[in-house]
Amino acid sequence: MQKKIVLLGYMGSGKTTIGRILANEMKLPFWDLDEVIGQMFGMTVPYMIQKKGEIFFRECEQKALNVVLQNPSYILASGGGTPCYYDNIDVINAHSTSIYFQCSPTTLSQRLLPEKQNRPLIADIEDDFLSEYIAKHLFERMPYYQKAHITIDANGDVESIVSKLLEKLS
Ligand code: S3P
Repeated sequence: MQKKIVLLGYMGSGKTTIGRILANEMKLPFWDLDEVIGQMFGMTVPYMIQKKGEIFFRECEQKALNVVLQNPSYILASGGGTPCYYDNIDVINAHSTSIYFQCSPTTLSQRLLPEKQNRPLIADIEDDFLSEYIAKHLFERMPYYQKAHITIDANGDVESIVSKLLEKLS
């Protein structure tokens, strides 16, 4: 099966976890954009953001995205900010079917709280303000996420999201 699918959504929305399962079920190659960036540029994304800054990271992210999109078939878990910079969302939509994993700020903050320290963009936000911060950040990113071809409610459990997606994509 030749399919090109890009998963979009905020950090913690399940793009990587669900993307891997989906790719396995659909027998498609799976890519995680943060991992591709790590391999292409020889450093992890958190390290890159901390040491080189976010603008450098966004440039590398765009380059890595354009490499993956050249493949004949894939499920790509993008980074939370990938569609929100340059013309990335239009390029993604021109090459692939894009799916936005919609989650509430409450769901996202519950999932992200235990792993906040590994995520430089939210590491310094106080725990009590995380949900509020995410709500604002999501609001800013919404115009880009809303351009996705398909939106799914990704607040639930992994199994039900996977089966919903398999139904939509078959
Ligand atoms: C980011 C999300 C991260 C990673 C980087 C920036 C963002 O990816 O690309 O830390 O801007 O939301 P995940 O969404 O895969 O965690």
